[in-house]
Amino acid sequence: MDADTLKVFDQSLVRCQAQESFLDRFYEIFLASSPIVKAKFSNTDFVHQKRALRMSLHAMALAAEDEAAGPAKYLEGYAEQHGSRGLNIGAEYYDLWLDSLLQTVRETDPECTPEVLTAWERVMMVGIGYLLSRY
Ligand code: HEM
Repeated sequence: MDADTLKVFDQSLVRCQAQESFLDRFYEIFLASSPIVKAKFSNTDFVHQKRALRMSLHAMALAAEDEAAGPAKYLEGYAEQHGSRGLNIGAEYYDLWLDSLLQTVRETDPECTPEVLTAWERVMMVGIGYLLSRY
């Protein structure tokens, strides 16, 4: 992926993570998006979950940056975990996940613009495409 898109993403991620509400708000929006999503997280430790999601957002960016290596290098574990033999997360839930994330960025990043949202979408779609291909 081009360096400009990654830079716009990186800078927005820093601004979002500076807001303490960022990942709480993301899970608030995502869990409200469907009763099935809410049910899947009914036993979740959200302190751990938010720590792990922070790391995975960076892994998604590395996968988008290093397209030559292929996303598996960074995302293999998430693919195993979320696929049909694991959490069994189908494509429709990734739509809700991405929409929830973009809504959260819109609310959280004080410098959000359409360009910022496009950068998030493009970076996330590399990893989402890979996770879906491994379902
Ligand atoms: C590309 C999008 C996604 C990313 C980057 C992502 C990332 C993660 C991460 C980092 C974890 C925790 C791994 C760990 O415990 O170390 C996790 C767990 C989980 N994810 Fe995802 N996820 C994504 C999409 C989804 C979607 C669409 C769903 C749909 C409901 C989902 C449901 C879950 C559930 C249920 C868990 C386990 C929670 C628990 O341990 O209680 N994820 N995900």
